[in-house]
Amino acid sequence: MSEIDWDSLTFSLTQTDWMYMVKCKLGDAWTPGKIMPYGPFEIYPAAGVLNYGQGIFEGMKAHKTINDRVVIFRAEQNARRFQTGADRLGMPPVPESIFLDAVEQVVAANKKWVPPSGKGALYVRPLLIGTGPIMGVAPAPEYTFLVYVTPVGPYFKGGLSCINLIITDEYHRAASGGSGGVKAIGNYAPGMMPSKNAKKNGFAEVIYLDAEFHKYIEEVGAANFFCVKDNILYTPELTGTILPGITRDSIIQLARKQGYEVIEEKVSAEFAMDADEAFCCGTAAVISPIGSITHGDKKKTYSNGDIGPITQELYNLLSGIHSEEEEDQFGWLHEVDLDLNLNLD
Ligand SMILES: Cc1ncc(COP(=O)(O)O)c(C=O)c1O
Repeated sequence: MSEIDWDSLTFSLTQTDWMYMVKCKLGDAWTPGKIMPYGPFEIYPAAGVLNYGQGIFEGMKAHKTINDRVVIFRAEQNARRFQTGADRLGMPPVPESIFLDAVEQVVAANKKWVPPSGKGALYVRPLLIGTGPIMGVAPAPEYTFLVYVTPVGPYFKGGLSCINLIITDEYHRAASGGSGGVKAIGNYAPGMMPSKNAKKNGFAEVIYLDAEFHKYIEEVGAANFFCVKDNILYTPELTGTILPGITRDSIIQLARKQGYEVIEEKVSAEFAMDADEAFCCGTAAVISPIGSITHGDKKKTYSNGDIGPITQELYNLLSGIHSEEEEDQFGWLHEVDLDLNLNLD
């Protein structure tokens, strides 16, 4: 019945049928929005988002499980991070209940686009942007909250295969006191050129170091970093320059439940390149094992380029929860009511 070849899904945009939209004037309270056909909308040339980058986004996934349910993973965490981001960028935060309602409605309206269990997921993209016109750097007078979805496959080519990364000494993602700790739209374009150069040289992504000491690992493009040494997991501590990933938090909880020690502290490139295993993680990347890291003229290859045992164990657990092959011990899944009574225009 579907027009898509689910087996060849990649992490890219496929246009779906419905989106959710609502506007709110600065100083007013948010009210629930509406589901409408997915498509372009009008925007003022002087919109705050176009001129000053006043915007944030989120990313989460809805999975079809082996029990034929459609579940969203920890969306309330995304709702909270969206509020922190709105605050940081001077925008009126969207109430959690409106955010969660919007996400559920868009997934239900686009239910035919949820890939079968094991073939991928429906990626949900909420946006909050300053759409009111403004001249001079100041908060826009009006905001638009919208949510759209697209079916996606693996983020890195090759699915669960090891990726090769390169540490950049030339570029940084974020500095202390900036916006690195929130999902500000402006954080992402500056990473495109370094990432493109890395890909040209055969690497899947760049690893960013901290902007102060140029020594400690911050993030892998748009994913968080972990390494394993002597059966202990290490991940960079959240200092405000790193995005507090929901997958990162889930892995910390899962690993501790499995009996592993997890240490959140500064992780130097030198330490990471002496570890036994390394992986990066995020909603898009899930858990992607790192085969090698190159830094200047040094190259570290992990587990002979194979997936390390702890990386594999955590991947199986996390993706098992997504598909309900593993028990949802932490209550992370929220079932979407696919028969929601939607007011479709
Ligand atoms: C910069 C950055 N780091 C890390 C992540 C991983 O966060 P999460 O696990 O919440 O998707 C993302 C993606 O959202 C990101 O954009």
